[in-house]
Amino acid sequence: MTGDTCREPVLLTPGPLTTSARVKAAMQRDWGSRDPDFVRLSAAVLDRLRALAGGGADHVCVPLQGSGTFAVEAMLGSLVVPSERVLILANGAYGRRMADICRRIGRDFDIYEVDETVTHDPEELRRRLAGDPGLSVVAAVHCETTSGLLNPLEDIATVTRAAGRRLLVDSMSGFGALPLDMTELGLSAVAASSNKCLQGVPGLGFVIARLDELDARAGAAPSLVLDLRDQARALLGDGQWRFTPPTHVVAALAEALAELDDEGGPAVRLARYRQNRDTLVDGMRRLGFRPALEPGLQAPVIVSFVEPEADWYRFEPFYDALTRRGFAIYAGKMRALGTFRVGTIGAIDTGVVERFLVAVEAVVTEMKQKLIR
Ligand SMILES: Cc1ncc(COP(=O)(O)O)c(C=O)c1O
Repeated sequence: MTGDTCREPVLLTPGPLTTSARVKAAMQRDWGSRDPDFVRLSAAVLDRLRALAGGGADHVCVPLQGSGTFAVEAMLGSLVVPSERVLILANGAYGRRMADICRRIGRDFDIYEVDETVTHDPEELRRRLAGDPGLSVVAAVHCETTSGLLNPLEDIATVTRAAGRRLLVDSMSGFGALPLDMTELGLSAVAASSNKCLQGVPGLGFVIARLDELDARAGAAPSLVLDLRDQARALLGDGQWRFTPPTHVVAALAEALAELDDEGGPAVRLARYRQNRDTLVDGMRRLGFRPALEPGLQAPVIVSFVEPEADWYRFEPFYDALTRRGFAIYAGKMRALGTFRVGTIGAIDTGVVERFLVAVEAVVTEMKQKLIR
């Protein structure tokens, strides 16, 4: 399993990522956005996404034309009203981005921020909620892609539910592979996008939310295009998106969802990603690279490696040399630690990861030799 096209680099990134030939081929047809065929296709995709999230009859999957951040902003703007206050759990850039969004759209918030290499203390969360009745909503990130850390969603949901508060989740980088049952966890909403573990192409964000909670906040969204309630009601009415839908992206996502089913569903996909991660981490350790996180916190989505403090190493030439050998990695994003990141999701398997490790070894040797000369 590879990116199918030898001239293109394999994307070892958290998305856009390497997609299969069948997903790319699904974009060859043009769809009329008001055509009944497209309306049916779109409805089937939204139903499948809702089911993947563990949503039921009370939930609706609302798609948005745009990237994942559009979905997160729409979730906060449509499900938090100005009289409410959100407690944002942050241990990376995507938690902090939720605070930026709230600041920008005029939503009141507190932030419970911990270091990027640790998770939040459920007991401290309980104390904060108990001590401040004004905090009616909690917002959390499932897999914090900044580092690759898996946050304990079940613990967060248990504490939030016991405190009688609502929970909004950014599950962008894990949706479609990491276990998630929003009904069981009592989540109000989950935001994700087409181009990560679903292995579709970029261009579509979506939020699965309780319809009654959206209706109860009708008119609250500060943006016309990011109004989830209006988008949901339009789709429930005549099946039409309010504005031009990314038809090819939806068609590719329909194919990607069929591919997910053919693979055996999220659990089987997760097992493949775990094998990718374990092969990567073991191999990189052998080559002298250290992961930034404790193994127990490392999600099988993306791994941050600590940058070597050595004369031969600089990120740009390392990145360029790997790209020349057919692999695109990702720059680091952690605040206190120099890192680079390697994704383990997408249409790739351990064979691709093994080839990547061979490339890393060759690049390290080449960079060290250049220094000697
Ligand atoms: C956890 C998380 N949230 C939000 C985003 C933002 O998504 P986008 O870059 O598609 O706007 C990302 C992107 O990687 C992410 O990993």
